[in-house]
Amino acid sequence: MKIFTTVKEIQAYAKEQKAAGKTIGLCPTMGALHEGHMTLMRAARKKCDIVIASVFVNPVQFGPNEDYDKYPRQFDADCEKLEKEGVDAVFHPEPLEMYPEGYGTYVTVESGITNVLCGARRPGHFRGVATVVTKLMNLARADEAFFGQKDAQQVAVVRRFVADLNLNVHVNMVPICREESGLARSSRNAYMSAEEKQAALVLSRSLKKAREAYDAGERSAAALKDIVSKELATEKLAKVDYVDVYTFPALQPVETVSEESLLAIAVYIGKTRLIDNIILK
Ligand code: PAJ
Repeated sequence: MKIFTTVKEIQAYAKEQKAAGKTIGLCPTMGALHEGHMTLMRAARKKCDIVIASVFVNPVQFGPNEDYDKYPRQFDADCEKLEKEGVDAVFHPEPLEMYPEGYGTYVTVESGITNVLCGARRPGHFRGVATVVTKLMNLARADEAFFGQKDAQQVAVVRRFVADLNLNVHVNMVPICREESGLARSSRNAYMSAEEKQAALVLSRSLKKAREAYDAGERSAAALKDIVSKELATEKLAKVDYVDVYTFPALQPVETVSEESLLAIAVYIGKTRLIDNIILK
């Protein structure tokens, strides 16, 4: 597995693979890799000749009071996992390689989709994501890019700017990978104590209740949100940030679920902010 840290190296590699007629799949990550990330690698491995993963804790997508400094960094362990999945190359730049002195260009998705859910609570977050993902797609000359449903709004944002900027990349969404307990896998799970991890099960449990109600015919967004909120309220360590329903991927408000919709939640367990969702269709 090749490891690149500079823009020049990855550009040369991508150019060479393209010239050889290979299709390139890109899996952007911030590292601290877990089984959820590996499902992206496997999807890419299945579909593309060449798989490029990126491991980059992108400073531009973190707010001033967020966890950029304490975000887990474990590049050697990440490489071992990637190598096992047959990933061809890893791009692992320093922040200054991506944003050198004088850097001044950002990708901002201005349609309403960044004003709701995490976009409303994390100002500038999706501007940072859209900027880095555009750069990574361009550097890797990606034909296919792989993202997790875990961050469903991120998928909606990426699909929007890929379409708007006419990027020739197909965006794949991979289902949420969960622990046996139901907890959605996340690099941020590592912040939690055993007691908090137990409390965090309330997220998937609440969504499961909503799913059951939906399957039984409930179509009122308010009623579905109420089911989730009531379940979340049973856990004293949980502090709700949002419980919301929007169409997917347009992220328009919903009163009655009649088209593909996203029921998404963000909940603090202690100081750890967790997100989870289900797609109703
Ligand atoms: P990160 O949180 O490392 O996630 C990288 C990718 O893995 C994202 O597409 C995310 O949705 C996916 N992923 C994480 N947990 C998952 C799970 N349990 N099941 C399925 N997929 C999962 O998302 C980012 O990094 C960054 O914003 C990034 C896109 C890399 C831009 O910096």
